[in-house]
Amino acid sequence: PVLILLGPPGAGKGTQARTLEAEFGLIQLSTGDMLRAAVKAGTEAGRAAKAKMEAGALVSDEIVTRILADRLAEPDTAKGVILDGFPRTTAQAEALDAILAERGQQIDAAISLEVDDAEMVTRVSGRFTCAGCGEGYHDQYKTPAKPDTCDKCGGTEMTRRADDNADTVKSRLEAYHAQTAPLLTYYDGKNALHRIPAMGAIDDIARELAGVVHSVR
Ligand code: AP5
Ligand code: ZN
Repeated sequence: PVLILLGPPGAGKGTQARTLEAEFGLIQLSTGDMLRAAVKAGTEAGRAAKAKMEAGALVSDEIVTRILADRLAEPDTAKGVILDGFPRTTAQAEALDAILAERGQQIDAAISLEVDDAEMVTRVSGRFTCAGCGEGYHDQYKTPAKPDTCDKCGGTEMTRRADDNADTVKSRLEAYHAQTAPLLTYYDGKNALHRIPAMGAIDDIARELAGVVHSVR
C-alpha cells in the first residue's frame, strides 16, 4: 500500500512511521531525512534547501518532488511505502498522484495525526536522535534506559536537529497551517482521509494506526 502520514512538526510522524516499517515491512520515506542527508552531503539540492530548512520554511516543490520521485523509483518500494513529511503542498500532492498513476497505483490512506500546537513545541524542543541507527528519543517522554545510550543499537552519539529550537518551530507550525493543512480537504475529497488523535501515548497511537493499515491492506 501507499500510506501518507500528515501532521504538524512533532506530531509523531517519524516515530510512528518507524513502528509501521518494523511491523508491516513497509518502507519509510521521509523527505525531511532525505533533505538532511542532502545538506550533509553538500549536494546541489542540499545547498538550495539548507537556508529554508534552518528558517523553518518549506523547500521548493521542485526539489522535494524530484528527491521523492527518485527514491520511489527504487525497486524496494514495491513492498509498500509510508510517506512521512510528503506531500506538504497541493502542488506536491498533485505531483504524487501523477507519479503513482504512472505506476498504476494510488493513495490507500492519508492519515492525519492530530495534536495541539502547544504540545508540538514541547515535543520538538525535547527531541534527540541516535546518530547510529536513527532511533528517536525525547527528554521527558521517551528516554533511553541508560542515559545517552541507544536502546536499539547501543550507540552513544546522540544528535539534535538545527531546526528544533522554539523560533524555528513557530515558523514550521505556520508553514503547516498555511500550506499543508489544506491537504486534509484534498484527501477527504478522495475518501482517503483518516484522522487519529495523537496527543496520547505513543503505543496507543501505534495501535490505532495499525488498525487503519490493516483496513487498507
Ligand atoms: P521534517 O523532517 O519532515 O520535520 P517536521 O514535519 O517538522 O516533523 P518532525 O520530524 O519535526 O516531527 P515528527 O512528526 O516526525 O515527530 P517525531 O516522531 O520526531 O521536515 C523538516 C524540514 O524539511 C521542513 O521544515 C522543511 O524545510 C523541509 N521539508 C521536509 N519535507 C518537505 C516537503 N515535502 N516540502 C517542502 N519542504 C520539506 O516526534 C517528535 C518528538 O516527540 C520525538 O522526540 C518523539 O520521541 C516525541 N513523541 C512522538 N510521539 C509522542 C507521543 N505520542 N507522546 C509523547 N512524545 C511523543
Ligand atoms: Zn541507535
